[in-house]
Amino acid sequence: MKSIIPPDKMKDYWEERASQDALFWTWSNKVSEEEYFKSGVNWVEEHVKKYFPINKGKCIEIGCGVGRVTIALASYFEQVVGIDISERMIRKAFAYKEKFKVNNVEYINNTSLLSHAMNVDFIFTLTVFQHMYQEIWWKYIVDGYEILNAGGRFYVHALFDLVDDSIKKAEEIGYKLIAKEQEGDCWILILEK
Ligand SMILES: C[S@@+](CC[C@H](N)C(=O)[O-])C[C@H]1O[C@@H](n2cnc3c(N)ncnc32)[C@H](O)[C@@H]1O
Repeated sequence: MKSIIPPDKMKDYWEERASQDALFWTWSNKVSEEEYFKSGVNWVEEHVKKYFPINKGKCIEIGCGVGRVTIALASYFEQVVGIDISERMIRKAFAYKEKFKVNNVEYINNTSLLSHAMNVDFIFTLTVFQHMYQEIWWKYIVDGYEILNAGGRFYVHALFDLVDDSIKKAEEIGYKLIAKEQEGDCWILILEK
């Protein structure tokens, strides 16, 4: 679904949804908690795992919500960091991390990749960029190149009006396109440094 939110309203928009029904608003499905987190495991199994550069190292997830996919990613990396614009989402993510006893995940209420340590192997984002103005998500792509290790990958899931134009711009930064897949009305791009 295409609903682009102006940058100055983005935080309040997600804080409100986090306080209403975070599980529903982050996945648009009314399901049990168990099914919700299973959907994250399934997504990684079916749509992500094949693109991991290595089965270790460090992963950052942009727009992690309450950790639906972050917790699944934690099985494959030494360290996973989830960042999100919403403090309430992050608080809930911490609560689920405790509940599921996952030790190698950190959550940070943040909207920048540059405040994190370098040497990242995988950057992941799912159903996040589609809600942003292009200049906001594009900054994540540009900054991602700075923090990725050589051979590290950026998993981009978005609604692209101009997918080929975005690929061309990413290649100008230095990324190599590894895969381009259509998934429903979204695109998955795998960009490698
Ligand atoms: C549709 S939810 C998806 C959550 C998660 N990726 C999932 O699949 O379960 C979008 C998430 O992006 C977060 N978000 C929105 N704008 C952001 C930004 N500029 N930086 C980081 N997170 C953002 C929201 O707070 C929300 O948790």
